[in-house]
Amino acid sequence: MKTIIEPFRIKCVEPIRMSTREYRERVLREAGFNVFQLRADDVIIDLLTDSGTGAMSSEQWAGIMRGDESYAGASSFYRFQSRIQELTGFRHVLPTHQGRASERILFELVGGAGKIVPNNAHFDTTRANIEHSGAVAVDLPIPEARDPKNRHPFKGNMDVSALEALIREVGRERIPLVMVTVTNNSGGGQPVSLENLRAVRAVCDRHRLPFFLDACRFAENAYLIKRREPGMQNRDVRDIVREMFDLSDGATISAKKDGLVNIGGLLLFRDEALFQRAGNLLILTEGFVTYGGLAGRDLEAMAQGFEEVVHEDYLAYRIRSVEYLGEKLLSVGIPIVEPPGGHAIYIDAAAFCPHIALENFPGQAVVCGLYRTAGIRAVEIGSVMFGSGDARSHHHGLPIPGKRLELVRLAIPRRVYTQSHIDYVVEAATDLYQHRGELRGLRIISAPPVLRHFTARFEELSSAPIRINDFGSAI
Ligand code: F0G
Repeated sequence: MKTIIEPFRIKCVEPIRMSTREYRERVLREAGFNVFQLRADDVIIDLLTDSGTGAMSSEQWAGIMRGDESYAGASSFYRFQSRIQELTGFRHVLPTHQGRASERILFELVGGAGKIVPNNAHFDTTRANIEHSGAVAVDLPIPEARDPKNRHPFKGNMDVSALEALIREVGRERIPLVMVTVTNNSGGGQPVSLENLRAVRAVCDRHRLPFFLDACRFAENAYLIKRREPGMQNRDVRDIVREMFDLSDGATISAKKDGLVNIGGLLLFRDEALFQRAGNLLILTEGFVTYGGLAGRDLEAMAQGFEEVVHEDYLAYRIRSVEYLGEKLLSVGIPIVEPPGGHAIYIDAAAFCPHIALENFPGQAVVCGLYRTAGIRAVEIGSVMFGSGDARSHHHGLPIPGKRLELVRLAIPRRVYTQSHIDYVVEAATDLYQHRGELRGLRIISAPPVLRHFTARFEELSSAPIRINDFGSAI
């Protein structure tokens, strides 16, 4: 059969509250045109994030009942630990409450002033934890990642020669580890090839540097390797996953993505001494090493989630449903980051509404438009998220150095929405695109100095200013 169906039946449903355009207009205004300030009940399709928003399976819910809530040595921990050991090959496994807790512990151990941590593209919490330690986070994506229209199959790859150059320039002693994020969330959800991971490993070996993965979306990355990398088509996804982890010395993971759970994280090490030191820090703020800030039942849900996520019928459906949304948007001319990646479709908002100048936040205008039109909540990843106090100064945290990508991410929660929900999103986006000339820019009326996208308040400009934006297109 050609049709790829959702490989599950629905046993429990959560009603969606429908709303009128007038109602949405009112609550959007009350929220200061910032969708983070909306109540989730006022959202019809929530594509804000794929993190912690997935649906658990009947087996995961059964695990929730089985959870052993003993403080130390709970049977749930041992089930979780052996599942992760078997999947990743890592002996040393620490549970944490989510990805950023793993990052905080890791960079407290290896970061610090004077240190430099390269990555294909750091996720914001990774960057923030590195910078919090006093170290500097550097993004080294391949040049193809700068062009939204370039259909390179592995736009998540790290620029290996730029890595070599960085090591030569700053010296290996200033680099505590090299990190690669699979898939590359900040760079459009794009996968990293095995060939690239092997090349990064070879550079690390030459310079005797540890190599860590930010492996939040390891299964989606492995499936895209199977689909796109020459010679990989007949390999089992589990086998590709294993090779990815075998190439690394450790990993931070947010289980809220490919762990298929609503809360949870992991910290994996090959090095025994580092593992012991991380365990001591874990006890300080997260909890004892056999629960790491979670309940026993959460460990059960993770043990099962990390099993289900490598099922190939699940991954085929997952990757296809994201690709389906991307293809439909492209077919009506909506500019997106191509090719579709693992967990989200990223609309190129600067190309979507070229009549809105970058300082009037075209991405935020598209986000507001999607909400007004159909109650869809997306997230701006551009001048609001990465800009600082002054709307014109964009700090170095931008995913792609040298070019400010102004994106709107439609992140697809796992196992939550059906094809007709996605068709609804396509219809709304098409309608918005056809009326894009009516989209208006915004101005910030209040914002905190950092992480302003969560709480900034905006007002809309009274009419769309007609001018050429930084990408050179005019209406
Ligand atoms: N690394 C990557 C690549 C991520 O995408 C995230 C979270 C984290 C680390 C941190 O994990 O949230 O469990 O602490 N990304 C979410 C998102 C928030 O919406 O993309 P966390």
